[in-house]
Amino acid sequence: MKIVVIGGTGMIGSKTVAILRQGSHEVTAASPQSGVNTITGEGLKEVMVDVQVVIDLANSPSFEDKAVLEFFETSGRNLLAAEAAADVRHHVALSIVGIDRSDNGYFRAKVAQEKLIKASGIPYTIIRSAQFMEFLGAIATSGTDGNIVRISPGLFQPIAADDVAANVADVALSAPRNGIIEIAGPERAPFNEIVARYLKAVGDPHEVVSDPEARYFGGRVEERSLVPLGEARLGRIHMDEWLRHSRTHA
Ligand SMILES: NC(=O)c1ccc[n+]([C@@H]2O[C@H](COP(=O)([O-])OP(=O)(O)OC[C@H]3O[C@@H](n4cnc5c(N)ncnc54)[C@H](OP(=O)(O)O)[C@@H]3O)[C@@H](O)[C@H]2O)c1
Repeated sequence: MKIVVIGGTGMIGSKTVAILRQGSHEVTAASPQSGVNTITGEGLKEVMVDVQVVIDLANSPSFEDKAVLEFFETSGRNLLAAEAAADVRHHVALSIVGIDRSDNGYFRAKVAQEKLIKASGIPYTIIRSAQFMEFLGAIATSGTDGNIVRISPGLFQPIAADDVAANVADVALSAPRNGIIEIAGPERAPFNEIVARYLKAVGDPHEVVSDPEARYFGGRVEERSLVPLGEARLGRIHMDEWLRHSRTHA
Protein backbone atom coordinates (compact mmCIF):
# COMPACT_ATOMS: atom_id res chain seq x y z
CA MET A 1 0.00 0.00 0.00
CA LYS A 2 1.20 3.53 -0.75
CA ILE A 3 0.95 5.71 2.36
CA VAL A 4 1.86 9.36 2.99
CA VAL A 5 2.52 10.52 6.56
CA ILE A 6 2.15 14.30 6.79
CA GLY A 7 4.37 15.41 9.68
CA GLY A 8 6.34 12.19 9.17
CA THR A 9 9.42 13.72 10.81
CA GLY A 10 7.61 14.68 14.05
CA MET A 11 7.46 12.76 17.34
CA ILE A 12 4.49 10.53 16.48
CA GLY A 13 5.12 10.78 12.72
CA SER A 14 8.64 9.34 12.79
CA LYS A 15 7.57 6.44 15.03
CA THR A 16 4.56 5.70 12.80
CA VAL A 17 6.69 5.77 9.64
CA ALA A 18 9.17 3.32 11.22
CA ILE A 19 6.37 0.87 12.15
CA LEU A 20 4.72 1.03 8.70
CA ARG A 21 8.06 0.54 6.91
CA GLN A 22 8.46 -2.81 8.71
CA GLY A 23 5.56 -4.03 6.52
CA SER A 24 5.72 -4.13 2.74
CA HIS A 25 4.34 -0.61 2.37
CA GLU A 26 5.67 2.32 0.42
CA VAL A 27 5.73 5.09 3.01
CA THR A 28 6.59 8.75 2.42
CA ALA A 29 7.54 10.84 5.47
CA ALA A 30 6.31 14.26 4.31
CA SER A 31 7.22 17.57 5.92
CA PRO A 32 8.34 21.05 4.83
CA GLN A 33 11.96 19.80 4.91
CA SER A 34 11.08 17.14 2.32
CA GLY A 35 9.28 19.71 0.14
CA VAL A 36 5.69 19.04 1.29
CA ASN A 37 4.03 21.98 3.01
CA THR A 38 0.33 21.86 3.89
CA ILE A 39 0.22 25.62 4.55
CA THR A 40 1.68 26.82 1.24
CA GLY A 41 0.43 23.77 -0.70
CA GLU A 42 3.95 23.09 -1.98
CA GLY A 43 4.49 19.46 -3.07
CA LEU A 44 0.98 18.25 -2.10
CA LYS A 45 -0.18 17.31 -5.61
CA GLU A 46 3.08 15.50 -6.39
CA VAL A 47 3.17 13.49 -3.15
CA MET A 48 -0.43 12.21 -3.58
CA VAL A 49 0.14 10.28 -6.83
CA ASP A 50 -1.26 6.71 -6.44
CA VAL A 51 -1.56 7.13 -2.66
CA GLN A 52 -4.30 5.12 -0.89
CA VAL A 53 -3.86 6.34 2.70
CA VAL A 54 -2.87 9.73 4.13
CA ILE A 55 -2.05 10.06 7.83
CA ASP A 56 -2.07 13.63 9.12
CA LEU A 57 0.34 14.02 12.05
CA ALA A 58 1.34 17.64 11.38
CA ASN A 59 1.44 20.08 14.26
CA SER A 60 1.43 23.86 14.42
CA PRO A 61 4.79 25.58 15.03
CA SER A 62 2.96 28.10 17.25
CA PHE A 63 0.42 27.20 19.98
CA GLU A 64 -0.88 30.78 20.27
CA ASP A 65 -4.71 30.71 19.96
CA LYS A 66 -5.07 32.50 16.60
CA ALA A 67 -1.96 30.95 15.00
CA VAL A 68 -2.91 27.39 15.91
CA LEU A 69 -6.47 27.81 14.59
CA GLU A 70 -5.15 29.25 11.33
CA PHE A 71 -2.64 26.40 11.04
CA PHE A 72 -5.13 23.53 11.42
CA GLU A 73 -7.77 25.23 9.22
CA THR A 74 -5.40 26.10 6.38
CA SER A 75 -3.45 22.84 6.60
CA GLY A 76 -6.66 20.77 6.72
CA ARG A 77 -8.24 22.58 3.76
CA ASN A 78 -5.17 22.29 1.52
CA LEU A 79 -4.47 18.68 2.46
CA LEU A 80 -8.05 17.43 2.06
CA ALA A 81 -8.41 19.21 -1.32
CA ALA A 82 -5.26 17.50 -2.61
CA GLU A 83 -6.49 14.13 -1.29
CA ALA A 84 -9.91 14.54 -2.94
CA ALA A 85 -8.27 15.36 -6.28
CA ALA A 86 -6.05 12.25 -6.00
CA ASP A 87 -8.95 9.99 -4.90
CA VAL A 88 -7.28 9.00 -1.61
CA ARG A 89 -9.24 6.16 0.05
CA HIS A 90 -8.52 6.79 3.76
CA HIS A 91 -7.64 9.93 5.71
CA VAL A 92 -6.35 9.26 9.24
CA ALA A 93 -5.88 12.12 11.70
CA LEU A 94 -4.65 12.34 15.27
CA SER A 95 -6.86 14.44 17.51
CA ILE A 96 -7.27 14.75 21.28
CA VAL A 97 -9.68 13.20 23.81
CA GLY A 98 -12.11 15.74 25.24
CA ILE A 99 -11.52 18.59 22.75
CA ASP A 100 -15.24 19.34 22.88
CA ARG A 101 -15.39 19.13 26.71
CA SER A 102 -12.71 21.61 27.80
CA ASP A 103 -12.18 24.98 26.19
CA ASN A 104 -8.75 26.17 25.15
CA GLY A 105 -7.34 27.64 21.92
CA TYR A 106 -5.50 24.47 20.90
CA PHE A 107 -8.60 22.31 21.46
CA ARG A 108 -10.74 24.74 19.39
CA ALA A 109 -8.25 24.36 16.54
CA LYS A 110 -8.47 20.56 16.72
CA VAL A 111 -12.30 20.79 16.67
CA ALA A 112 -11.98 22.87 13.47
CA GLN A 113 -9.61 20.27 11.97
CA GLU A 114 -12.09 17.45 12.77
CA LYS A 115 -15.00 19.44 11.21
CA LEU A 116 -13.11 19.82 7.92
CA ILE A 117 -12.38 16.07 7.84
CA LYS A 118 -16.02 15.10 8.51
CA ALA A 119 -17.24 17.47 5.75
CA SER A 120 -14.61 16.42 3.19
CA GLY A 121 -16.38 13.35 1.79
CA ILE A 122 -13.11 11.39 2.04
CA PRO A 123 -13.38 8.13 4.03
CA TYR A 124 -11.71 8.85 7.37
CA THR A 125 -10.79 7.73 10.84
CA ILE A 126 -10.13 10.28 13.58
CA ILE A 127 -8.06 8.95 16.48
CA ARG A 128 -8.61 10.99 19.62
CA SER A 129 -5.66 10.37 21.91
CA ALA A 130 -5.20 11.24 25.57
CA GLN A 131 -2.15 13.42 26.33
CA PHE A 132 1.24 11.91 25.52
CA MET A 133 3.49 10.98 28.48
CA GLU A 134 6.20 12.88 26.56
CA PHE A 135 4.10 16.04 27.12
CA LEU A 136 4.15 15.81 30.95
CA GLY A 137 7.19 18.10 31.30
CA ALA A 138 5.51 20.86 29.27
CA ILE A 139 2.28 20.41 31.27
CA ALA A 140 4.17 20.81 34.56
CA THR A 141 5.92 23.92 33.25
CA SER A 142 2.61 25.46 32.19
CA GLY A 143 1.20 24.94 35.72
CA THR A 144 4.27 26.29 37.51
CA ASP A 145 3.72 29.21 39.87
CA GLY A 146 6.99 29.96 41.69
CA ASN A 147 8.00 26.90 43.71
CA ILE A 148 4.71 25.10 43.21
CA VAL A 149 2.87 23.51 40.30
CA ARG A 150 -0.91 23.91 40.34
CA ILE A 151 -2.71 21.02 38.67
CA SER A 152 -6.37 20.02 38.64
CA PRO A 153 -7.40 16.80 40.43
CA GLY A 154 -9.52 15.83 37.38
CA LEU A 155 -8.80 12.40 35.95
CA PHE A 156 -5.87 11.91 33.59
CA GLN A 157 -4.75 8.92 31.52
CA PRO A 158 -1.54 9.69 29.57
CA ILE A 159 -0.29 7.38 26.81
CA ALA A 160 3.28 6.77 25.62
CA ALA A 161 4.16 8.02 22.12
CA ASP A 162 5.19 4.48 21.11
CA ASP A 163 1.67 3.24 21.94
CA VAL A 164 0.12 6.16 20.03
CA ALA A 165 2.19 5.37 16.92
CA ALA A 166 1.31 1.65 17.12
CA ASN A 167 -2.40 2.55 17.17
CA VAL A 168 -2.06 5.07 14.32
CA ALA A 169 -0.27 2.49 12.15
CA ASP A 170 -2.89 -0.14 12.95
CA VAL A 171 -5.78 2.22 12.09
CA ALA A 172 -4.09 3.27 8.84
CA LEU A 173 -3.95 -0.37 7.69
CA SER A 174 -7.62 -1.00 8.63
CA ALA A 175 -10.82 0.06 6.87
CA PRO A 176 -11.98 3.66 7.45
CA ARG A 177 -14.45 3.99 10.37
CA ASN A 178 -15.95 7.26 9.19
CA GLY A 179 -15.93 8.09 12.87
CA ILE A 180 -13.84 8.56 15.96
CA ILE A 181 -11.88 6.06 18.04
CA GLU A 182 -10.28 6.96 21.36
CA ILE A 183 -6.96 5.82 22.79
CA ALA A 184 -5.43 6.36 26.24
CA GLY A 185 -2.79 4.96 28.56
CA PRO A 186 -3.26 1.88 30.77
CA GLU A 187 -3.55 3.88 34.05
CA ARG A 188 -6.10 6.49 35.08
CA ALA A 189 -5.42 8.71 38.12
CA PRO A 190 -5.93 12.31 39.28
CA PHE A 191 -3.99 14.72 37.05
CA ASN A 192 -2.08 16.27 40.02
CA GLU A 193 -0.91 12.81 41.20
CA ILE A 194 0.42 11.89 37.76
CA VAL A 195 2.31 15.16 37.39
CA ALA A 196 3.73 14.72 40.93
CA ARG A 197 4.92 11.18 40.05
CA TYR A 198 6.53 12.54 36.90
CA LEU A 199 8.36 15.40 38.68
CA LYS A 200 9.58 13.09 41.47
CA ALA A 201 10.92 10.60 38.93
CA VAL A 202 12.83 13.26 36.97
CA GLY A 203 14.22 14.80 40.19
CA ASP A 204 12.32 18.08 39.91
CA PRO A 205 11.81 19.55 43.44
CA HIS A 206 8.62 21.54 42.62
CA GLU A 207 5.69 20.68 44.87
CA VAL A 208 2.46 19.78 43.05
CA VAL A 209 -0.69 21.30 44.56
CA SER A 210 -4.13 19.91 43.75
CA ASP A 211 -6.20 22.89 42.61
CA PRO A 212 -9.69 22.37 41.13
CA GLU A 213 -9.47 25.87 39.62
CA ALA A 214 -6.16 25.16 37.82
CA ARG A 215 -6.66 25.46 34.07
CA TYR A 216 -5.25 23.19 31.38
CA PHE A 217 -3.73 25.63 28.88
CA GLY A 218 -6.59 28.02 29.71
CA GLY A 219 -9.43 25.48 29.76
CA ARG A 220 -11.39 24.33 32.83
CA VAL A 221 -10.84 20.71 33.84
CA GLU A 222 -13.79 18.85 35.36
CA GLU A 223 -13.47 15.28 36.71
CA ARG A 224 -13.77 13.66 33.28
CA SER A 225 -12.78 16.44 30.86
CA LEU A 226 -9.56 14.79 29.69
CA VAL A 227 -10.30 11.04 29.76
CA PRO A 228 -12.31 8.86 27.37
CA LEU A 229 -15.97 8.60 28.39
CA GLY A 230 -16.70 5.38 26.56
CA GLU A 231 -14.73 2.43 25.26
CA ALA A 232 -11.11 3.25 24.41
CA ARG A 233 -8.12 1.31 23.17
CA LEU A 234 -5.51 1.25 25.90
CA GLY A 235 -1.75 1.50 25.43
CA ARG A 236 0.49 -1.18 26.92
CA ILE A 237 3.26 0.97 28.37
CA HIS A 238 2.76 1.86 32.05
CA MET A 239 4.09 5.14 33.36
CA ASP A 240 6.76 3.53 35.57
CA GLU A 241 8.12 1.62 32.58
CA TRP A 242 8.03 4.76 30.43
CA LEU A 243 9.81 6.76 33.14
CA ARG A 244 12.55 4.09 33.46
CA HIS A 245 12.95 3.97 29.69
CA SER A 246 12.99 7.76 29.21
CA ARG A 247 15.59 8.16 32.01
CA THR A 248 17.82 5.52 30.40
CA HIS A 249 17.59 7.28 27.06
CA ALA A 250 17.81 10.87 28.35
N1 LIG B 1 0.78 16.49 22.71
C1 LIG B 1 -0.24 15.70 23.02
O1 LIG B 1 -0.37 15.29 24.18
C2 LIG B 1 -1.23 15.30 21.94
C3 LIG B 1 -2.31 14.49 22.31
C4 LIG B 1 -3.16 14.06 21.30
C5 LIG B 1 -2.95 14.43 19.96
N2 LIG B 1 -1.89 15.23 19.63
C6 LIG B 1 -1.71 15.55 18.19
O2 LIG B 1 -0.66 14.74 17.67
C7 LIG B 1 -0.21 15.30 16.44
C8 LIG B 1 1.29 15.08 16.30
O3 LIG B 1 1.97 15.73 17.35
P1 LIG B 1 3.56 15.61 17.54
O4 LIG B 1 3.83 16.00 18.95
O5 LIG B 1 4.06 14.31 17.01
O6 LIG B 1 4.05 16.79 16.58
P2 LIG B 1 5.55 17.33 16.34
O7 LIG B 1 6.56 16.42 16.97
O8 LIG B 1 5.57 18.77 16.72
O9 LIG B 1 5.71 17.21 14.77
C9 LIG B 1 5.01 18.04 13.91
C10 LIG B 1 5.24 17.62 12.47
O10 LIG B 1 4.47 18.49 11.63
C11 LIG B 1 5.30 18.92 10.57
N3 LIG B 1 4.83 20.19 10.03
C12 LIG B 1 4.85 21.42 10.60
N4 LIG B 1 4.38 22.35 9.75
C13 LIG B 1 4.03 21.67 8.60
C14 LIG B 1 3.51 22.07 7.35
N5 LIG B 1 3.23 23.34 7.09
N6 LIG B 1 3.32 21.12 6.40
C15 LIG B 1 3.61 19.82 6.65
N7 LIG B 1 4.11 19.37 7.82
C16 LIG B 1 4.31 20.29 8.79
C17 LIG B 1 6.70 19.03 11.19
O11 LIG B 1 7.69 19.08 10.18
P3 LIG B 1 9.14 19.75 10.50
O12 LIG B 1 9.84 18.77 11.38
O13 LIG B 1 9.75 19.88 9.14
O14 LIG B 1 8.86 21.07 11.14
C18 LIG B 1 6.72 17.72 12.00
O15 LIG B 1 7.02 16.63 11.17
C19 LIG B 1 -0.68 16.76 16.46
O16 LIG B 1 -1.69 16.93 15.47
C20 LIG B 1 -1.27 16.95 17.85
O17 LIG B 1 -2.37 17.83 17.82
C21 LIG B 1 -1.05 15.67 20.60
